[in-house]
Amino acid sequence: MLELSPSLLSANFANLEADIKKLEEGGINYLHLDVMDGNYVPNISFGPVVIKSIRPMTDMIFDIHLMIEKPERYIEEFVNAGADILTFHYEASTHVHRTLQNIKSYGIKAGVSLNPATPLDTLEYIINDLDLVLIMSVNPGFGGQSYIEAMSRKIKSLKEMRQKHNADFIISVDGGIKTGNVRNVINMGAELIISGSDVFGADDIMSRLREYKEIFDEYR
Ligand code: DX5
Ligand code: ZN
Repeated sequence: MLELSPSLLSANFANLEADIKKLEEGGINYLHLDVMDGNYVPNISFGPVVIKSIRPMTDMIFDIHLMIEKPERYIEEFVNAGADILTFHYEASTHVHRTLQNIKSYGIKAGVSLNPATPLDTLEYIINDLDLVLIMSVNPGFGGQSYIEAMSRKIKSLKEMRQKHNADFIISVDGGIKTGNVRNVINMGAELIISGSDVFGADDIMSRLREYKEIFDEYR
């Protein structure tokens, strides 16, 4: 797979529906929803109530990225809010294996996210339980930060690790992705590409989406 999952964090919060419609018109299938609790990360964004209220606006796949302490406390809320993929931080959950199983018990996809400094080794014994791995290519908390170059190597190693273990999770990358560097992460193995400020900060969102589509088409 190769898909763009625009991060709603950089959208216009006063009119989310308008931005969601633009993504749909642009042929986007995934929507990345960044949940921040002001504790695990310094910023506060939105929670299940907001997600539930935008759920009826679209059929896009809701790719929820939980940046919250002890995410295991809120799984059911996010499932009820309309999650299709629920990704939490390895660093924020005490019993990662249990949290994964709990998410999957609701029949949705479960993902684990790793901060830039967290090694891939942590995934070794849960590798066949994962539906998605989200490599953070910035320190989580804010949109508009710069891509950390060392993460290219990490994506490549993750792809090798997936092959070695015969696992079949999606490789996703989040933070600092722009049309100018997206080929680099795709070449390394990224399949679900998150982009926030580059999409919603564009003068013309539709033409920015077309630029991404043209780049992705080079790989099809
Ligand atoms: C960062 C969030 C990202 C963020 C990406 O903590 O997880 O999803 O919105 O924004 P950009 O693409 O601007 O780096
Ligand atoms: Zn995110």
